Amino acid sequence: MASDRDVFQAPKGTRDVLPPDSSRWMEVIGAFAGRAELYGFGLVMTPIFEHYEVFARLGQSTDVVSKEMYDFVDKAGRRLALRPEGTAGTVRAYAQHRPTPPWKVWYCAPNFRYEAPQEGRYRQHWQLGAEAIGSDDPQIDIEMIDFLDGFYRSLGLRQVKLLINSMGDAETRQRYVAVLLDYWLSNAATLGDEMPRAQLNPLRILDSKRPDWQVIIAAAPKLGDYLSDASAAQFDAVQAGLRSVDVAFEVAPRLVRGFDYYTATVFEFQGLALGGAQNALGGGGRYDKLSAEMGGPQAPAIGFGSGIERLLLACDAEAVLPQSTSSTDVFVIDAIGEPDVAKLLHEIRGGDVRADRSYGSKNLKKQWAAASRSGARFGVMYGEREWAEGNVVVKDLSTAQQIEVARLQVVQWLRDHLK
Ligand code: HAM
Repeated sequence: MASDRDVFQAPKGTRDVLPPDSSRWMEVIGAFAGRAELYGFGLVMTPIFEHYEVFARLGQSTDVVSKEMYDFVDKAGRRLALRPEGTAGTVRAYAQHRPTPPWKVWYCAPNFRYEAPQEGRYRQHWQLGAEAIGSDDPQIDIEMIDFLDGFYRSLGLRQVKLLINSMGDAETRQRYVAVLLDYWLSNAATLGDEMPRAQLNPLRILDSKRPDWQVIIAAAPKLGDYLSDASAAQFDAVQAGLRSVDVAFEVAPRLVRGFDYYTATVFEFQGLALGGAQNALGGGGRYDKLSAEMGGPQAPAIGFGSGIERLLLACDAEAVLPQSTSSTDVFVIDAIGEPDVAKLLHEIRGGDVRADRSYGSKNLKKQWAAASRSGARFGVMYGEREWAEGNVVVKDLSTAQQIEVARLQVVQWLRDHLK
């Protein structure tokens, strides 16, 4: 049972994002939104909870479904679950509304997984993601990967490695899974209690991080050796396209990713500066069967998700995207009384200049101290004498130089000097 002290703390594995840190979040989200627009994606917003069955499609043998789902029964007895990732809900929305394909959408949303929290792994994490539903053209695979690669670069990240693989088509996987199962059975002693999981879905063992399994995982048969001709041609086209847009990558023959819905192309961007097990910055792949499995049309699709928390940890590790030091440009000092100051602030903000003030104190020294704490470039004081003369005092807070500016021109003056 949680004690009184615990219940008034953010639950284990969740974090509050407060100013000024939140301004970096806004910057990252804004950069992603801008890039999504460049590539022709529109924003999609789906519910934070769905019917349990929507997420069950991620695979009964996956950790996310079997161990980590936040599922519950609502007051009318429906079994619901909080979203553990963004793809299933987006595909459910596609199957329900049937927009014209290709449907290219992006999202920014919190996800919930009951994981063992550690740095870079939380019970609530945020993802920026994109999905393109309704085309199997390898050109769209290239576009998705190029989109995410360009996004990381635009933030200044350089220590990022892209791994790609192909899961092949149904025929490929059928052949490969049979071989892989034989291989796990011959290593049953190492897999121990987890053997039933290996039998349920032999692919799932490949993405395990368990240190004691890494030797057998490294020696496991490679999916690439079993690709059908059609899958191999598709994978070749993706690789050639990535080269043509100068996106560097490595083929990772054992990259299978953690959900059952993946088919054909899969990819993962690793943050090399992050180190450790939580170095997956973002990843995704094709899921050509999911729409039909949810009762929607046959709609081959591809997408990716990228965790915002991990992205910011990678930015810290590479010393890029510095915290902005100021949330305001102008700080107004009240030396004569409320209505005039409120009017001046209203006008400054109306001129699209970020402005703030202190409240409840007429002490000038305290107000100037608040002005310099705010990080504003200019302090504007509306004093008795200046007011009588139709002026205000403008002080450059970095040099302490001050001048008088005509009251009626001050908004334009600030706009000109803040450019
Ligand atoms: P995922 O690999 O499970 O894929 O998650 C995508 C990204 O979300 C990860 O690379 C990581 O940055 C972040 N992430 C995942 N779990 C956590 C966690 N517990 N704490 C912090 N960050 C986390 C998906 O979710 C797929 N829906 C991606 C996709 C979209 N595939 C196709 N379309």
